[in-house]
Amino acid sequence: MEMHIALVPGDGIGPDIVREAVRVLDRVAEVYGHSITYKEIDAGGVSIDKHNVPLTEEALAAAAASDAVLLGAVGGPKWDHVPGNLRPEKALLGLRSGLGLFCNLRPAVIYPELASASPLKPSVISDGVDLLVVRELTGGIYFGEKGRSDDGNAAYDIMRYSVDEISRIARKAFEAARLRRKHVTLVDKANVLETSRLWRETVSRVAEEYPDVTLDYMYVDNASMQLVRDPKHFDVLLTENMFGDILSDEASMITGSIGMLASASLRDDSFGMYEPIHGSAPDIAGQDIANPIATVLSAAMMLRYSFSLEKEARAIEDAVSSVLADGIRTKDIAGDSSAAVGTHECGSEILRRIK
Ligand code: IPM
Ligand code: MG
Repeated sequence: MEMHIALVPGDGIGPDIVREAVRVLDRVAEVYGHSITYKEIDAGGVSIDKHNVPLTEEALAAAAASDAVLLGAVGGPKWDHVPGNLRPEKALLGLRSGLGLFCNLRPAVIYPELASASPLKPSVISDGVDLLVVRELTGGIYFGEKGRSDDGNAAYDIMRYSVDEISRIARKAFEAARLRRKHVTLVDKANVLETSRLWRETVSRVAEEYPDVTLDYMYVDNASMQLVRDPKHFDVLLTENMFGDILSDEASMITGSIGMLASASLRDDSFGMYEPIHGSAPDIAGQDIANPIATVLSAAMMLRYSFSLEKEARAIEDAVSSVLADGIRTKDIAGDSSAAVGTHECGSEILRRIK
């Protein structure tokens, strides 16, 4: 297969980790007889420095022209002073909405080898944690009208959702649940918000098309509590944009290994953008310390969702598991006992195991 991949290394540790994911992808291509071409795109702080905007039209067009996008991370304190609409984060939002990526999949799993890194008591996670946050990504309060009153003494951000926006993400959640434990929890604030009431109505209607999947509902405040009280309640957690932002950070933290978690942002065709859940960690950028695994696993998700290369995706995931099983750890997950390997060595250990 021929794959044209847009690379967005971005800021901070972004380039360090994307570099390793590319080495792993190249190794997969070699072993399985595929050909991959890459196009590197500036986005985030690096684009502000070079082009004065977080995302240029050309960059967005180049991403759109690719088959899939692999992103490192954007942002850093260096750009904290720039005005809101020119912040590095705008690049991410611009890519998501510009490419129509409404469906954000954020799996959170506890790796048995790393269970001790979870901040939760062993009794709470003894049955493991394996949940998937399905976050609506191009609507809601993130993209609704925002502004200030004329005197500047008030501000607003509108949360708006249409039935179409809700049903298409709901279908993605039910389809994902079919491949898992067949349980969707819709998280909302239907006791207060009108948008949440529309979500409940719409999602329960879509649920009728998936009689084999159980649907339950939870208010977002309760869900944030249940995530740490009884995480195994959740299989697929479906929610709107901002609740999903918040809950996916919480879900990733309970696994204790935010450096390990990948994500996919999808639409209805095979195109997608793939990125680690963690940020740009500017304090450790360029020091060969960062954990490349989340980005490597994002590359595996890319092979699975954008190219339907299940075997190849598995090969990467198995290689990562074997690295962990062999006790190879970057600093963030090494604890104090074992000696840590660097970013590049971790990448080499993974690619050595691709069969
Ligand atoms: C995320 C991030 C982004 C978001 C920021 C950087 C705009 O927190 O991907 O979760 O809020 O969506
Ligand atoms: Mg976030």
